[in-house]
Amino acid sequence: MAGIPHDHYEPKTGAEKWVDRRLGVLGLMYDTLMIPTPKNLNWMWIWGIILAFCLALQIVTGIVLAMHYTPHVDMAFASIEHIMRNVNGGHFLRYLHMNGASLFFFAVYLHIFRGLYYGSYKTPREITWIIGILIYLCMMGTAFMGYVLPWGQMSFWGATVITGLFGAIPFIGESIQTWLLGGPAVDNATLNRFFSLHYLLPFIIAGLTIVHIWAFHTTGNNNPTGVEVRRESKEVAKKDTLSFWPYFVIKDFFALALILVVFFAIVGFMPNFLGHPDNYIEANPLQTPAHIVPEWYFLPFYAILRAFTADVWVVMFANWITFGLVDAKFFGVIAMFGAIIVWALVPWLDTSSVRSGRYRPMFKWWFAIYCIDFVVLTWVGAMPAEGIYPYIALAGATYWFAFFLVILPLLGVLEKPEAQPETIEADFDAHYGKPKDDAAAMPAPAE
Ligand code: HEM
Repeated sequence: MAGIPHDHYEPKTGAEKWVDRRLGVLGLMYDTLMIPTPKNLNWMWIWGIILAFCLALQIVTGIVLAMHYTPHVDMAFASIEHIMRNVNGGHFLRYLHMNGASLFFFAVYLHIFRGLYYGSYKTPREITWIIGILIYLCMMGTAFMGYVLPWGQMSFWGATVITGLFGAIPFIGESIQTWLLGGPAVDNATLNRFFSLHYLLPFIIAGLTIVHIWAFHTTGNNNPTGVEVRRESKEVAKKDTLSFWPYFVIKDFFALALILVVFFAIVGFMPNFLGHPDNYIEANPLQTPAHIVPEWYFLPFYAILRAFTADVWVVMFANWITFGLVDAKFFGVIAMFGAIIVWALVPWLDTSSVRSGRYRPMFKWWFAIYCIDFVVLTWVGAMPAEGIYPYIALAGATYWFAFFLVILPLLGVLEKPEAQPETIEADFDAHYGKPKDDAAAMPAPAE
């Protein structure tokens, strides 16, 4: 599929011509900013820019925090208190970084669910999607290691539980765990390497983001109809699109401004709302907290991890068929990573020929249940693993896999999709009315 035809950069002034002959940077900037963008994009297409903002915010605040932080078990906790009390604007800097991580994950979940609903992962956007999944995995690693740095109780015990999961892998697990930790337990070597990697990974994310943007600039954006931009000629493509600058830049910045109002209200007035009070107690390897809970954005996956206990029949079956190799702990680890692997495989699991969920009457309902499932798993992940909660987690985890492995493949065969608009222009006009022909609408000039 050829890219969307559009006007290319022509250097005008002498200075532009001078640069353009030596480095194609102006042309690259022009092509990036003026890229034809489907004119019917709705408010769910703002999250990409919010994510780019979050990445920049985390890198800038993180670099300044690192100037005052000490990655040593005897000093890490105190150095955070030093940032909070002594460094100019230090508490603000730290709260921006802490809550910036939450905004980052909030935006990425909406971005992912937007992609799932509108079928943005479908041909030819599989690479954009897969790079997105890699970004998400890097985000998980970065956030996990970042949370260890303040060296509070949750930092220490969270790291102990999660790195302990690697120990569940048969035969090689223990060696991997020791290798990850740099010793037999979470200690100074762990803190040091986590700090180093926590500094490195955001730059890997930045690199992946460039490839991500490159990929969807190659295919062109998806849009709420899932119908492609017409590409016969520049003139025809213009009927379906508007240039990214200034139209979408203004829209995206407007959305960013509104979101930042809420963000700064949280940073200013309730900065610890999303955190856990136990992390204001210094790490103590001799005292386990009553409940070890990860940050909110890991909760759905934490719930899936804990859902498969030894008394669940699939776990018993897996244990029996592998002669005891796969126990409940290892099964939980497979399920947790499996939950992300099915995301990665969705371009091939979804068999429907219709891209957008808008025209898929059955998919809409199953997708709505999947969204509720995500919220329920987030909630149950924060609950203690006793009473009714493990059953809710098991039901939620089962639906997660059923949605991707059974429902999506079947819907492509069973569902009768509704009619899609012929073109993006037709969809746009149906919503906003046909634009008036300015010349025809103008009163005739007086004689
Ligand atoms: C640092 C994180 C990320 C950044 C900065 C980012 C940025 C963007 C931007 C700017 C867009 C275009 C406009 C928009 O949809 O808002 C986009 C589109 C897209 N993103 Fe991301 N993204 C990130 C993470 C992800 C993740 C984790 C996924 C999914 C696993 C993903 C999947 C997609 C897909 C499929 C599209 C194409 C949608 C379309 O063509 O309109 N992205 N991304």
